[in-house]
Order: sequence, then structure tokens, then C-alpha cells
Amino acid sequence: MKRIAVFASGSGSNFQVIAENFPVVFVFSDHRDAYVLERAQNLDVASYAFELKEFDNKAAYEKALVDLLDEHQIDLVCLAGYMKIVGPTLLAAYEGRIINIHPAYLSEFPGAHGIQDAWDAGVAESGVTIHYVDSGVDTGKIIHQVRVPRLETDTIETFETRIHEAEYKLYPQVLKELGVTER
Ligand code: GRF
Repeated sequence: MKRIAVFASGSGSNFQVIAENFPVVFVFSDHRDAYVLERAQNLDVASYAFELKEFDNKAAYEKALVDLLDEHQIDLVCLAGYMKIVGPTLLAAYEGRIINIHPAYLSEFPGAHGIQDAWDAGVAESGVTIHYVDSGVDTGKIIHQVRVPRLETDTIETFETRIHEAEYKLYPQVLKELGVTER
């Protein structure tokens, strides 16, 4: 059975969908006050939180993450709104075992504002992508992606909601494809 951990920096709505469908060994947040930690408590999922600024440097921060992942024998790390670039320390230990969800159709609109950037560009469609994480920003090998149309009647809010709905379908689908057992 594949053991998964989820990394999330903020709200954690993707974490919630994952945890409702799959056993999650733990969730990690790089913000001690992130709402995802409350979701974890409500869902009875173990959680850890520590912040980069509490360490001497990013390598030491990521070393702590690697230790946590090793200790829990994690097979797959699911980034879901984890707003840090994965650095060399974490990649050296877990490359090929870290996946990320991005709220656009990569290679279109990489970076932290995929939804807003697609909206501002006036595209007729955007999408959602799940990919392996490498040393670039949203550049790793694509596992699966879906298109999401932008409707004539859309506001940025309704567009964003439809992107998120696509995310909530795609993450469970990809985890099944990768052989993660459902709860
Ligand atoms: C999602 O749109 C995800 O694609 C992006 O950050 C957002 C996280 O939302 N990387 P949430 O924390 O899962 O609610």
C-alpha cells in the first residue's frame, strides 16, 4: 500500500478532497496558522507545521522534511497549494516521488498565479495539471491535465470555482492511477 503525505500552505481544500478519499499519513504545512491544519484535525489526520524562518537555511528546513518523510516511510508526497519551490535537499531524497497540482494547463501559465494570469490573458480555456516536481517552477513531467473552458458569463470568481472543481476531480483520479489505495 502506498503511503502518502500532503504538503499545503494555506486553505487546504485539495488536501480535504484527498483525505476524504485516501488514507493520508500526515499533512505538513509551512505556516503554523494555515487553515489546512484545522481541516486535518477535523478529518483526524496527523499534522506537522514548521516554518522556513525557524531554520538557519532552506537546506536545514528541507532536511527536517526529509526526516519526517523517512520516519513515516512515505512513498508519495502530494503538493496541494504548497507555495514553496522544492529545493535540492528535498529533491535529492524524493525526486520522482513528489507530485504537484497546478491550476492551469501547463506549460501555459506556470507560477504562483496560474488562474489570475490565464484570466488576464483572456484565454478561451485554461485547465488543471498534475505533474512530477523537478527543480524548475511547474516544469516537471506531466502526469495528467484537463481543460477548463472560460465561459462568456464567467467572472474571475466563477472561473476560479470551476478550476477548483476540476482540481477536486483530477487529484483523486491521478492518485488512483498511481496506485494509491482508496479508503
Ligand atoms: C490550488 O488551486 C492549487 O492548484 C494551487 O494552490 C491552490 C491551493 O488551494 N497550487 P487549496 O489550499 O487546496 O484550497
